[in-house]
Amino acid sequence: MSTFKIPTLKIKAADGPIGAEITGADVSMPLDDADFQTIDDAIDRYAVVVIRDQDLTATALADFSRRFGRPQVNVRHDANNDGTPEVGWISNVTKDGKPLGSHDAGRYWHSDLCYLENPSKLTVLNALEIPSKDGVTYGATSFAGTAAAYDALSDDLKQRLDGLRASNSYRTMWNRKAREFNARPLLSDAELEKYPPDAIHPVVRTHPKTGRKCLYICDGYTNAILDLPKAESDELLAFLFEHIIRSDFNYQHQWRVGDVLMWDNCAVQHKAAFDYAPPLRRLMQRCTIEGDAPF
Ligand code: OGA
Ligand code: MN
Repeated sequence: MSTFKIPTLKIKAADGPIGAEITGADVSMPLDDADFQTIDDAIDRYAVVVIRDQDLTATALADFSRRFGRPQVNVRHDANNDGTPEVGWISNVTKDGKPLGSHDAGRYWHSDLCYLENPSKLTVLNALEIPSKDGVTYGATSFAGTAAAYDALSDDLKQRLDGLRASNSYRTMWNRKAREFNARPLLSDAELEKYPPDAIHPVVRTHPKTGRKCLYICDGYTNAILDLPKAESDELLAFLFEHIIRSDFNYQHQWRVGDVLMWDNCAVQHKAAFDYAPPLRRLMQRCTIEGDAPF
């Protein structure tokens, strides 16, 4: 006699081409192959997927994330979880007089860890506390589709971008944020050297699973297109940053406690909303999964 499992996962697509919601899952337990495949396929198809109503410890978040690949230990060690360094805090909360996580994460549109040779293919963000007041929820996360943005470029521009490479810089980001938001110290060049050197990636990359061409420059980290004079690089980047977020292929995630949100860092860029402040608290744990070098 054969036994089979009745599928309990339900997927509901959002209104646009990006975003879907999964209910009926409990990812604190080891996933069987069928459920893993359902979630993995949903990420390829919708790029941003929320699994509702979860209750995960840091260890459970890391174990679930590991099903999708190798967890990365973030270079911002002071924001990583004690004992589970592949899980980091994304929070505005202060503990013992120190920020629990980075207080200015996600300020600019970006793709996670694109400043590394092997950026994150996937991010898993677990919502523990969400700011809300008088029935209004704050701190949404916005996503923009990079393949749709590429498709919408003129043929001339597509041709101009073909083969171009850009540098993606954690160090440039650091001092830009330090100057703009005062939530981190301004560092000297020598101090910045403890963080990774700039990574060179194609301006247009091919999605390793869907085969779609995606724009892979972002306001948060890309500081120059190589092989172009600075003025031309600055102008082209400014145009592309605007273009990506003007695209009609956007999704805004309104958080609920217990959401485990997963996104594909090649297919989308994202940005956090800073429309709340203490005493409202936002507390999340994050695990990113290493991808291949972009091509
Ligand atoms: C991240 C990030 C955005 C947010 O976790 O990588 O950018 O809304 N978060 O917290
Ligand atoms: Mn991010």
